[in-house]
Amino acid sequence: MTDERIETLLAGMSPEEKAGQLTQYFYFKLPGEADPALGFDADEQPRAAEAALGRGGAGALLFVTDPAEVNRLQRLAIDGNPQGIPVLFGFDVIHGLRTIFPVPIAMAASWDPETIERGQTIAGREARAVGIHWTFAPMVDITRDPRWGRIIEGAGEDPFLGAAVAAAQVRGFQGGGIIAGPKHFAGYGASLGGRDYDEANISEYELWNTYLPPFQAAVEAGAGNIMTAYMDLNGIPASGSHWLLTKVLRDTWGFTGFVVSDANAVKNLQTHGFAADPADAAARAVTAGVDLEMAFSEPAYDHLPAVPAARDAVEVSVRRILEAKLRLGLLDEPFVDEDRAREVLADPEHRAVAREAARRSAVLLKNDGDLLPLDPGAFGSIAVLGPLADSRRDTLGPWVFDFDLAETVTVLEGIRRATGAEVAYAQGVPVTQREFPSMFDQFGGNRPEDPEGFDADAEFARAVALAESSDVAIVVLGEHQNMIGEAASRSSLDLPGRQLELLRAVAATGTPTVLLLMNGRPLDLRWPAEHVPAIMDIWYPGSQGGNAVADLLFGAASPGGKLPFTWPRTVGQVPIHYGHTRSHEPQNQGRRYWDEASTPLFPFGHGLSYGRFAYENLFVSADTVAPDAEVTVSVDVTNTGARPAPEVVQLYLHQRHGRASRPVRELKGFSRVELAPGETRRVAFTIGPQQRRYWHAAVRDWVLDTTTFDVWVGGSSAAELATTFEVRDV
Ligand code: NOJ
Repeated sequence: MTDERIETLLAGMSPEEKAGQLTQYFYFKLPGEADPALGFDADEQPRAAEAALGRGGAGALLFVTDPAEVNRLQRLAIDGNPQGIPVLFGFDVIHGLRTIFPVPIAMAASWDPETIERGQTIAGREARAVGIHWTFAPMVDITRDPRWGRIIEGAGEDPFLGAAVAAAQVRGFQGGGIIAGPKHFAGYGASLGGRDYDEANISEYELWNTYLPPFQAAVEAGAGNIMTAYMDLNGIPASGSHWLLTKVLRDTWGFTGFVVSDANAVKNLQTHGFAADPADAAARAVTAGVDLEMAFSEPAYDHLPAVPAARDAVEVSVRRILEAKLRLGLLDEPFVDEDRAREVLADPEHRAVAREAARRSAVLLKNDGDLLPLDPGAFGSIAVLGPLADSRRDTLGPWVFDFDLAETVTVLEGIRRATGAEVAYAQGVPVTQREFPSMFDQFGGNRPEDPEGFDADAEFARAVALAESSDVAIVVLGEHQNMIGEAASRSSLDLPGRQLELLRAVAATGTPTVLLLMNGRPLDLRWPAEHVPAIMDIWYPGSQGGNAVADLLFGAASPGGKLPFTWPRTVGQVPIHYGHTRSHEPQNQGRRYWDEASTPLFPFGHGLSYGRFAYENLFVSADTVAPDAEVTVSVDVTNTGARPAPEVVQLYLHQRHGRASRPVRELKGFSRVELAPGETRRVAFTIGPQQRRYWHAAVRDWVLDTTTFDVWVGGSSAAELATTFEVRDV
């Protein structure tokens, strides 16, 4: 029945209509009025898209979030092709549509797949309500280079955590009613020098062991779409790689959804110096396995009807696009209910989940003398300082477009609402005085301007004086949200501008100081880590960010997030990650540089809470197991502290010897638990062949060695409680 419906549609389509189904247009009105003198035409893209809809030349659109517009454009689409096939609306729903959740790296820092899934279910629900069918998310690219701006969109450095976060997001989005599109397939996070879009050269060993597992997990979770990557992978543009898009994705993993190119990536096969011209680019992309071309303008796929060699591939791809439309119910109900959209977007439950997610994603990096949570008896006056303390736009983070600034709660507002203490505020310094171009500036409101008549030195002095006269100083520093993200790489990890200078001056007053970081990448915290008693990474915490941060500061909730990446001391250590091999002279691995330690400032998996955790009774179910058998590792975790608190129990493995040198530690299990004071929980992990296998560079396949495994369990990758088990042919 299903197939019949699709086959009937296919049989009635002209080659041009088929190519149209395989084309996705941006529907993107530039801000500002048309100015012919400057050659500026704000409506160029919408006009091209509408013309394409009118001739059956577009199968999908992106960037429309207004349900009335969705309905209007859908009508154009349906009337524009003889079979009345509706368009798919896609969008970058990255960390929320109207209700904005913490940025993806922050959600990953919760190490809490349930919260991640719940958040993306809400994002999916809001998106579907306005008429969006599919999101270009999650980004599941592993990255070990924080210079790369897109580190903020992923789950960090680790394939095991990355796979769990990827699967949770796919379940969430799709549970909310939209198709998930894991991206960017594959290897984008390894772009050379952290420079966005530059080539990635990744060995087959690293690809299989590190970069591909989150994609495979996303496919296994049922993702309906995959987006290709912009860059060249080992010399071949990822968007033209038959090996990636067909051999690995479909033949090996059994992916049955549709593949979309990243924006303009099909035409770019020519600019890469790969395809000869747009027609060649189109033919090579579609035969490699790109079903849908996402195009800024003049799609390469317009050439498909003239390329006979692409005919079979086109048939297959059109079928996949129609299947997606059918499965979404679009062929029967293409329009959206505008009243219902308003209702869903206003659901207060969505805000409550966002607040909880922001609480769970914060990472308490340091808390000397238990300065946090703040004792209301001791701190009658609070100075809230720093350029990010009261910036609504920055609180939301990048990659949001449909947000409501009026309902966004900044850290300053959250603190004011939560406490009876006297709260004074000074910006102190701007984040930066340097101009930095951002591709998202066109959306406006990115950079808070210095207030009118801003006197930099007087403002600096005012902030320090407030710190001096208050019982505690809370300093909110970091990067503007548009200093990170796509095309926002940095060559430095310093706190921009005079922020460190402000922090030093505040700390020098002797007033207890709390540093809150708003960021999506690790920054150079060598000085604060030594001199500031309490440091909490709050990331870009989203619309409810300020409320959540206040919950944590005053102890209504305990932080419990853990770092999803290794925090370097300095940019000179980059790339650095915990899962390296022992290599030569492992005893000197912390001294590989003569001018700086080669250890991290904070290890992967690190994060404190308001509890204290003791780990005891680590047991393995068997000392010896066969290669295909499982063992169970269990441990008792006790909260010996005085407050209820979460802990992420982490399990790391190390293979002592075998057919390859394996990493010193690899995360192979984790579980976030919440323990009352004095409570003990027995936490168990199953370690089977899946967790022990690895891709072998010479065998060119997954292998399992007979060997001895070290096991560590604890609260970070520096866990010390250890045991072993042996894998032997029995
Ligand atoms: C380019 C980005 O690389 C991709 O992640 C995004 O989904 C598309 N643009 C569409 O906005």
